[in-house]
This record gives sequence, structure tokens and C-alpha cells, in this order.
Amino acid sequence: MAKTDAPRLDHFFSAVAARLDLWRDLARAAQAWAARPASRGDAALHAAASAALTALLPLEDFQAYPGARVMNAIQQRVTGGDAMGTARLVQRVSSALMSRSYRSDAGEFEPEDDVAGPERAMPAAKTEGAARPYFEVLFVVPTPPARWAAHAQQIRKLRRPEDEFVYEPVFVGSFEDAALAVILNTNLESVVIYDGFPYESARDLPLLKALLSSRLSGALKDRAAGADGVVLAKLIKGFRPDLDIILLADKKPDAIISDPAAEGIRRVFYEAEEPLEIHFSILSGVAERNDTPFFNNLKKYAAKPVGTFHALPVARGKSIFKSNWIRDMGEFYGANLFLAESSATSGGLDSLLEPTGNIKKAQDAAARAFGGDRVFFVTNGTSTSNKMVHQALLEPGDIVIADRNCHKSHHYGMVLAGAQPYYVEAFPMVAYSMYGAVPLRNVKKALLDLKAAGRLDKVKTVTLTNCTFDGHVYDVRRVMEECLAIKPDLIFLWDEAWFGFARWSPLYRPRTAMGARAALKEAFADPAYLERYLAQEKALGADLDPKDARVLDTRLIPDPRKAKLRVYQTNSTHKSMSCLRQGSMVVVADEEYHRHEQAFKEAVFTHASTSPNQQIIASLDVARRQMELEGYELVMQAIQLAIEIRVAVNTHPLVSKYFRVLDVENMVPAEFRPSGLKSYTEGGATWVDAALAFREDEFILDPTRLTLMCGTAGFDGTQFKGLLAADYEIQLNKTSRNSILLQTNINNTRSDVANLLKVLVEISKGIEDRLKSGGEAAQKAFAARVKSLVEDVPDLPNFSHFHDHFRDDPQGTTLEGDMRTAFYMAYDHDGCEHIKLMSPEIDKRILTGPPLVSAHFVIPYPPGFPIMVPGQVIKADTIEFMRKLDVKEIHGYDATLGLKLISPGVLDGTSTQPKQKKAKPAAAVVGV
Ligand SMILES: Cc1ncc(COP(=O)(O)O)c(C=O)c1O
Repeated sequence: MAKTDAPRLDHFFSAVAARLDLWRDLARAAQAWAARPASRGDAALHAAASAALTALLPLEDFQAYPGARVMNAIQQRVTGGDAMGTARLVQRVSSALMSRSYRSDAGEFEPEDDVAGPERAMPAAKTEGAARPYFEVLFVVPTPPARWAAHAQQIRKLRRPEDEFVYEPVFVGSFEDAALAVILNTNLESVVIYDGFPYESARDLPLLKALLSSRLSGALKDRAAGADGVVLAKLIKGFRPDLDIILLADKKPDAIISDPAAEGIRRVFYEAEEPLEIHFSILSGVAERNDTPFFNNLKKYAAKPVGTFHALPVARGKSIFKSNWIRDMGEFYGANLFLAESSATSGGLDSLLEPTGNIKKAQDAAARAFGGDRVFFVTNGTSTSNKMVHQALLEPGDIVIADRNCHKSHHYGMVLAGAQPYYVEAFPMVAYSMYGAVPLRNVKKALLDLKAAGRLDKVKTVTLTNCTFDGHVYDVRRVMEECLAIKPDLIFLWDEAWFGFARWSPLYRPRTAMGARAALKEAFADPAYLERYLAQEKALGADLDPKDARVLDTRLIPDPRKAKLRVYQTNSTHKSMSCLRQGSMVVVADEEYHRHEQAFKEAVFTHASTSPNQQIIASLDVARRQMELEGYELVMQAIQLAIEIRVAVNTHPLVSKYFRVLDVENMVPAEFRPSGLKSYTEGGATWVDAALAFREDEFILDPTRLTLMCGTAGFDGTQFKGLLAADYEIQLNKTSRNSILLQTNINNTRSDVANLLKVLVEISKGIEDRLKSGGEAAQKAFAARVKSLVEDVPDLPNFSHFHDHFRDDPQGTTLEGDMRTAFYMAYDHDGCEHIKLMSPEIDKRILTGPPLVSAHFVIPYPPGFPIMVPGQVIKADTIEFMRKLDVKEIHGYDATLGLKLISPGVLDGTSTQPKQKKAKPAAAVVGV
């Protein structure tokens, strides 16, 4: 980033990312200055170094490292014309920031170039041997800045060799600066607030002011203006719920503790400072998050001399390490993997099926971290988590409003539970052969239609995918509010398989299941919300009339006295956090959970393996620890890298001729974007514009999910995925007809971005060369290929309807169907028929009947959603789509046999085969 582009402090996200760049800029400028012999002096280079330093200074006020002393030393060297000295010190700081060595080497905090041993004034950040984890603590104080250095020294004196961690203090003196520090300093783990600080910052921060005013409503705004520590604590918790907050109040602690806004403050001290107590509170708060009860015990277990007489030969590894033939397995994985394996549930290992010990503790810690009331660890992926939730919540005959494009585990879950899906359609994105997310209007309409048909009482759950594979994120709060207004006891299952990490970004969190649940819990307790509801009730009535068009058009809110918050989230922890494959969680926040407690036990017994992998459980525990301690920084980094990829690809002169990362306006139709945001990177958009879209738009695009158009380079998605994997060692997991999906996560680095761009440049050059050397013929062929991929795209078929045989009320207007009965009809081979996809018989049947009724789920990859479900009547558009599909992998379809259909005779009762009876309701069907 050029010096003139120095970010404004309140361009929060770019400011965090820019810090290291600005240090690099300064290091470069200082080196260039130092490279000139002093005698010649170079005013321009000196000025450049000075400008680079000026750009950086405001950001450094919020960081403990390198700290005021080092920054002052650099400033003095720059002002005093000491080019060599500046270059040396800047280089040292810049390297320490890159390598993070300052976290373990206290000498880095010294302004001298070469300080050793006792001269290091700062207490060593190391115990004997291993470095202690390092973090920073924000102190919000009313004292003048001149006193901060002395205060910092007092704090450092509290350190004891036996402390588990070491921290450095950072000081700010106002409400606004505290808010800014919490956003900008990713090393913070705790905040100590001394009441009595002013509200306003001395800095010019218009965007921060706008952000704060949107976050602080009504009474809180007035209180914040009075620099109330409780309100600051609440604001900070809103940004980063993991941070511990310690308040030193100038009023009595009991008054504070009964203040609802004070929820979440870890400790309140009254007036008189108790420095050592504060120190202990800081350390114990971090220790709590750092604790991994299951993993810790597993490590202890691995070190015990255990004799095993159970059925798991790899446990302890003796069959491997003593083997003549498979020792390489042991060498490859290392001894600990085997030492830490056991089929026992004792010795601190606990039982996943009925946890009461360390797994329970680890699950409780996960519930705290993910914002739920309880958590279930699952070791067979979210595919299993979803089936567990469906089984536990649904009885045969219950209706589920479900996105037809949801993951297959939901469809199968409904088959198992005997629930009837009422499929709602996502908006299609025909140009890219993919679907978006389900407009709220469609969900409301389904509920209202069911209400009009007198079947609303049958509706138990709504299940939606947040975010979708391609990155569409719902306005979760609004969906729940409007649905609860129609049915106040609805249960929501948010499939956040891809989105578990989102909790650790203040931008995303309100759009997660648990973030929205927290916001609604607070809203329902607010008397102003009830007033708003009563106004709505006056206009629309207490019992909403499904035939009244205003109900569909109004942004509804529920009666907070009646609405129940019943929210479930499933997440593939392994997809977005540091967890081993298949690690998944079910997060529960259901005020009526007691109704399902036993059913959840049954669901665990049904689906969980009786031999769960200890390492997956441990990694769930550790993944949670990491996110609670550094999730904020890591997620911020993943977002920033995604933004860098977007800019790099879309502005590269050669690459952008053939490739493009689709932007907000391509992925989210304008009708769902009242904020008007079109792009995260173009048109001068700031993060405040993005924050507005995140607040207001019906759907937003998760910036970390990058749909890269490759059809414009003449590749279909599958072909391009293969090319990247085979020739460039780049892996990805989703493709469409003309695009691939890339994503950044907490694992990516800037080198990955650079490598991706390099590869795209190489491929683009290859295309250019081929087009040049192949002449007109090659160019024509290329244009035709691009046209076929980009323009000749098949229409996406909607769900048609279930055959009347599977509808409780064939005369009725509602769409739900008994999919389980249809599913089991496929088991009766004599009651089914096969017809080849290309045969004229299919077209004839579509025109003149009898209807074609699918016996199976048919799921092509890509796009990965079921274009047929059991019992569905197949229409011409689905056949046309399937005929045009050029993918090889179609689950549920055998090309040599053709489509498997339920025979018409079975459905209308004319078959010589006995007519299938509807499957008997059962509490749970296992083993499909
Ligand atoms: C939306 C969604 N839900 C659930 C799953 C299943 O998750 P897992 O792979 O952890 O079983 C996936 C997998 O891709 C998914 O995309």
C-alpha cells in the first residue's frame, strides 16, 4: 500500500491489515534513506521515511508492542537525521512484528539496538524453558497520558514467575478510543475499565462515531455520553464477546451488578484499586478460555503406562511400532496419535454418548464460546449433526419448511423422522447455474398458506443454510422475527456448516443463529419492543389473517410475550476452524429444550458411533480454545485475504481478461440489497458501507467465499478444478458449470494469495499464447466454448410438487409431502420402473401422463442439490436440465438403467402388485 493510501484509523478492517504493510513501507523507506552516504544527505528520502512514520504513528497508539519508548526512539532518530539508526531499529521492529517474536522476547521492547541480559528493563516474558503465551490488556483510564508509563511499570511489577501467561498493558483515555482499540488491537484478551474517563476522542473519527451511534441506542447513548463504564463494557462485549472485562467502578458494585447492561462483566471492583486482584482476574479469565478439559486429560492419559485389554490394537501403538511391515505408519503419524487412542471411557476420557466428565466440560466451554446454552460434540460431521437435530425435534407427520437446496443430510433426516418437507425455493442464479438463498417472502408465504389451510399447527421447524455454499448469508434475526410473528413457537435449525467461524467477527456475528438469538433475547425484554408490537397488533390484529396481503408485505415482529426463542445451529467445526475432519457441533439455544432432552439423548444414541475418535473430540476442544483466544484476529485476516484476492484478480490487466471473482452485485440481486452495496472492493466502498449492508440487506455475500468465473476463460468448473489440482497443487471443493468456488479461512496466508495470482497469470498467458498461435480458427473455437459455458446455460428447475399419493390432503393447496413413504416404495423393485433419460417415452409421459414420479433422490454434483426427491412429480424442466447436464457424478441415477420411477399402477391402485401402504409412523428409523 502506498504511503499516500495510509488507511484512516476508522477504516477498521483495512487499518488492522495495513499495519504490517505500513511497517514494511517504513522499513523500505528507512533502508533507502540509509543506503545514501550521510554526507550527500538526501532530503527526499529523509522526507519519505518521515512520511511513512507519520502514516504509521496513529495506529501504534493502540498497541503495546513496540510501545511508546521504541516509537519515541524511532521518531528521534528520524528527526535527528540518523538514517542508519532508523533503518536498524525499524527493521528490528518490523521483523519482530512479522515473526511475532516480541511475544516471547522481552528484549524486543527495548529501544536500544542491541540490549542484552540485565539491561533489559522489561520483565522477561519467559519462564525457564518455554515461552509463556503473551497477550495485551487494554486499560481505559481517566488519568492523563503523561501518567501512563508509570502506571504500566506498576502493572508489570505484578508479574510473578509462576504466572501462566504474560501480558503488556495498553492505555487509552476515552470511550471512543477504547472502542477503537478493541477493534484494532487483535492481541487484546482483557479490558480493565476505570470509571470516570471522557467520552470523546481527541482524534478525528467520523466513521467510528457513525458506527457507535448505530450500536448504542436510546438510553445507552445518553449513558455512554456520560462515559459510563458499564455501557462501554456492553459495547465491547458486542464487538468481541470473548474479551474479559474488569470494571473499577466509582459507584457501589451491587448497583452495577443489578444493572442489566452489566451482564458479561467478569469482575467489578469498587473504587479502591486492588492491583494484584486485578492481575489475578486478568490471568484467570484467560486461563479459563485456555483450558481444554478433554484435550488436557487426553494428553495426561497418553503419558500413563496403560495396559489395554480392549478391542483397539492401535491404542498404545505396539502393534505398529513393533511391526516388521507397518512401522512407517507409526513414523508418519508419530507415537502420540496411538498413545492417545483408547476405547475406554474412564481415566478422564469420558463417554461421548453420555458425557458427565471432561467431554461435558469441553462441551460447556464450547457452549460459552459459541453463544449457546449447550453443545453436542459430533464426530461424524454435520451430516450427522443435522440428522440428530431432525430426529430429536420432529415426529412423523410434522411439517418442516426447508430450503430445497439444503444439504442432503436434511432431506435424509426428514425421511428418517417421517417429517414432511415443505420445500421453499431459493432465488435462482441461472447465469452461474447455482441457487442463492431463500427469500423471506417465500418462507412467510409458505407459513401463511399453511395457516390458511388450517395446517400451521403441524409446522414444527424451519431449516435454512446460513451461509450457503456460495456465500449467501441471511438476515437471521429478521427471518426469525417474521416467522415467529406468524407462529410463535417455531423452531429454527440453522445449518451453519460453513459458518462456524463467523461468530468471531463483529461484522458477521449478528447474522449468525446465536448472534441473532442473543439480539432477539435482548429485544424481547425491551419494553419499547412490546410497544412496537402493540402498534403492529393494532394495524394487523393479534391473529394475523393469512389472506390479508399486508401481512406478507409488512416487516412483522412477534409478540414478545408469546414468542419462544428456539434456535439450533449445526456447524462443521472442521470446515472453518482448527479441528480434525468430521468434527462438528450442535449448538442449542432453546427455551423449551426440556421437551426434547430425552429425544436428544435418543438421537445421540442413534447416530453417534459407539467408538468415537478421541482425536476428533480433542480437536473440537482445541478449536474452541483457539477461537476464544485468537479467533477475532484470524477471522479478520481471512476476510482481508479474501479482499486482497478479489482486488488482485479483478484488477490484474491480464488475469481480469479471462477471470473474475464475482462481486456482491453479481451474487445478490438488487431487490435484496436495499443498502445499494455493489462491491466490497470497487467504487470506493468502505467497511462502513459493508457494515451497513450487513445490517440492512436481506442477503449479504460472505466476502471469504469467492466465486471465480472460469467459463470466460473457456473452462467449465470441473475442468478448471482438475487443472488447478493436477498442474498447480491448488485444491478447492465446489464447482458450477462456469465457475469454481475458492474460499479463504483462518489457515490462509498472503503467500497463498500470491501463489493463486501467479497461477492465474500463467494460465492466462497460456490462453493468450494459444489464441495467438492458433489464429482465427482457435479464436473462433474459444469464443464458441465461452459462449456455450456463459450464455447457453440451462434453466434451473424448481421443485414441482409431490404426487397426490403422498399428500395428506390431495385437494389442498399446500406443498408438503410424505417423502418417507415414497422413499420406502423404492425398496419394492417390482413396484418401480426404469426409463432411460433420453428415451421418447419420457417426453410422451410428460405430455400425456401418467406422471413420472421419482423413486429416489437424484443429486447431480455439481450443483449438489436434489433435482428430484422421492415422491416428486418430474416435469419437463427437470428433464431438460438433466439432459443438458454435463457432469459425470449424479447420485441416485444410474445412466445404464435410466430414471427410477414409482410405477403408476402402484400409485393409482391398478397394479397387480399389492398397493404400498403408507409407512407406519415410528419414533425413529435407524440405519438407512
Ligand atoms: C450446508 C451443509 N450442511 C452440512 C454439510 C455436511 O457437513 P459434513 O461434511 O461436516 O458432514 C455440508 C457439507 O458440505 C454442507 O454444505
